[in-house]
Amino acid sequence: MIPQGRFITFEGIDGAGKSSHIEALAGWLRARGHQVTVTREPGGTPLAESLRELILQRPMDPLTESLLVFAARRDHLAGVIEPALSAGGVVLCDRFTDATFAYQGAGRGFDLGVLAQLETWVQQGRQPDLTCCFDLPADVAAQRRAAVRAPDRFEAEGLAFFERVRAGYEQRARACPQRFTRIDAALPPDQVRAQVLAAVERILAAT
Ligand code: TYD
Repeated sequence: MIPQGRFITFEGIDGAGKSSHIEALAGWLRARGHQVTVTREPGGTPLAESLRELILQRPMDPLTESLLVFAARRDHLAGVIEPALSAGGVVLCDRFTDATFAYQGAGRGFDLGVLAQLETWVQQGRQPDLTCCFDLPADVAAQRRAAVRAPDRFEAEGLAFFERVRAGYEQRARACPQRFTRIDAALPPDQVRAQVLAAVERILAAT
């Protein structure tokens, strides 16, 4: 019997520090015998990675941005996520559709109803089994980002944008409380890691 796949996504405003925890979690899961796929959005396939470059660098209106994000997602689901889940693997995805609701919806003010339609159309019912949402005040995240890298088109946005994005994530979490786990990203890294592992162990134990 093929084991049941698990789809785990990681969200949060830029600078919340999720990426390093995803790598550590992948190692932890592999050491326990799981088949792990680490991937990201926008991206994860050659086509979706090309779209990512456009999305992160080229100015465009919010509808174009949303369509490109969902086009990349469609390719990623069909080419990587669904096959890995069908084979019983654990998929760790750095951002997914909650980011679209938070960034294009809450951040840019784009129509949430249109996003919900695209979500239904593209995902055909597929939703993450668990979403770890790294939560951090927008000003603290901005300080962390400034210390490590040059900003892309989203990271160049101001504090008010990231406050809206953070609120957008909170709204999504209220709408789907059973799959969302809030990770307090202001804590030291080992405590953040412990929160992530506790949530993942819970979802692995669930039938
Ligand atoms: P990010 O995970 O922050 O990549 P990196 O750590 O390499 O900077 O993701 C890239 C950006 O894409 C991020 O600023 C949020 C944005 N984004 C959206 O606006 N909508 C989406 O649907 C997704 C998946 C990402």
